[in-house]
Amino acid sequence: MYLPDKHLAPIKIAALMQKAAAKAFQKKNVEGKNVSAKISDVRIQIPEENFGDYSTNIALILGKEFGQNPREIASEIIKSIPENDIISKTEIAGPGFINIFVKPSWLISELKRILNQGENYGKSDFGKGKKVIVEYSQPNIAKPLGVHHLLSTIIGQSLYNCYKTLGYHVLSINYIGDWGTQFGKLIVAYKKWGDRSMVEKNPIDEFLKLYVRFHEEAEKDSALEDEARKTFLKLEQGDKEALQLWQWCVEESMKEVQKTYDFLSGIHFDLIQGESFFRDKMDDILDEGKKKKIFVRGEGGSLIVEFSEEKYPPFLVQKSDGATLYSTRDFAALKYRIQTYGPEKILYVVDSAQSLYFQQLFEAARRFEWGGAQAVHVAFGRMRFKDMKMSTRKGNIVRLDEVLMEGIERAYAIVNEKNADLNEDEKKAIAQKVGIGAVKYSILSQNRMTDIVFDWDKMLALEGNSAPYLQYTYARYRSILRKGKEAGIIIDHDFLFNEQWKYELLLLRKMVIFLETINQAAAMYKPNLLATYLYELTQVCNSFYTNCPVLQAENESLRNFRLALIEATATILKNGLTLLGIEAPEQM
Ligand code: ARG
Repeated sequence: MYLPDKHLAPIKIAALMQKAAAKAFQKKNVEGKNVSAKISDVRIQIPEENFGDYSTNIALILGKEFGQNPREIASEIIKSIPENDIISKTEIAGPGFINIFVKPSWLISELKRILNQGENYGKSDFGKGKKVIVEYSQPNIAKPLGVHHLLSTIIGQSLYNCYKTLGYHVLSINYIGDWGTQFGKLIVAYKKWGDRSMVEKNPIDEFLKLYVRFHEEAEKDSALEDEARKTFLKLEQGDKEALQLWQWCVEESMKEVQKTYDFLSGIHFDLIQGESFFRDKMDDILDEGKKKKIFVRGEGGSLIVEFSEEKYPPFLVQKSDGATLYSTRDFAALKYRIQTYGPEKILYVVDSAQSLYFQQLFEAARRFEWGGAQAVHVAFGRMRFKDMKMSTRKGNIVRLDEVLMEGIERAYAIVNEKNADLNEDEKKAIAQKVGIGAVKYSILSQNRMTDIVFDWDKMLALEGNSAPYLQYTYARYRSILRKGKEAGIIIDHDFLFNEQWKYELLLLRKMVIFLETINQAAAMYKPNLLATYLYELTQVCNSFYTNCPVLQAENESLRNFRLALIEATATILKNGLTLLGIEAPEQM
């Protein structure tokens, strides 16, 4: 069922262009130059509209390498393109780009593939045999999930989905913050003021209260800080009582965090492996770092990493009192992941506030020479709320559950207005999908590097680039298809090609780049490329639909073909939304 990677149009086309270039150069007989290496590097791009379906700069690269006119090279390459079933025509543009148009017959064969594969359309074995680790969510135990954890969870999960669909062997890790000096404070506070049954009823809120109280009281009584430090030390040394309390604290908190994941739906971790997992690996990593002279003595006997020419400030890995840190555990975790799983990439989906931290970590980690895995900080900006303050129950942290509840409430109001006839349960179920979909899509459709702006009106608009719009559009396509079915139309796949098609061809061309878009979104860690693509696809489909009658088409074969286009668009839309973790209701 999986689509072989060689099917991706750009790969097919690249192979053809490479063959053509090799043939063209055979005649030229360029001595002593490694033509084939240059040629095999060539990539195919998707140009701006009207410049063909694909384009390549192969002639520019070869022209530069051999000091020849790229336009001339381009024309020789074009002459040498082998017989094939995909390229219909080529044009030379600008200084020597080759623009490529694909054959409508190939587009039709792709259409059939979409219809046949249905929900499996989009899967490939592009990443076969390659491993990728995606680390995301990473909440801190005993603290409410912050909005940046929501961003990480949603962005990370969609990247995981994309890699998975591309056939990579993917491992998702939730690296929870379950170790560190804050547990000393929490244990002290719990023992002084805590109440077990209160915690079990409402773990995170209770822990937060205890934590806040600890800080208030510590201001008056400095001995408390000392007690907390000692308690954490006991914990690190494996004190039974401290460990039990800590364990309980983690379990109760994770139960609550899990509820949020369930509520978000579609969040899946292959492994929950937090900072505490690495607590017994601290000595090893410190020894290795010292031996390799990567960790050196800093102020007061601490251990630090130094960077040449003050590229980065020094990086603390052990405090002068011997305590290990967040950074120490990250070194151990990175080493463990590389050695245990042998991944080609490790993605860390973490907010950009930690950019410097990861630059320092990765730069220092390279010096250890653990192997070839590429560590990537998939950073994202802060979330800002457009002209509105969130009504938070406590203090000034925006809480994840409150954002989601508000999304659902607002979605309910819309469903209630638009579709008053639905029964209460249906309305609620749709509001849930729409509200959560809106929050997710709003995050995924923005460039993650800039601040992510949260704008309820835009997010929930039924027009424009929003989840409700896409969901609504999907539901509309499904309703057209239902009507077709009721009218007894069975879509047969024997399509007759017609040169006169305009909107249909535009739509087909847009459809066939779905696979490449997934590939690109994964390669650049940018789910927004996929979101933008889905939005554009619906725009092209809607302009087709307004210009070409479907159920009222002039003849049966045209009606059949146009319905098939709607079905294929709906399929891609649904599969794409699924990759983004967004559900598409059949009606809205
Ligand atoms: N738990 C951390 C936080 O909430 C994020 C962890 C990021 N991952 C890592 N490997 N350091 O800030």
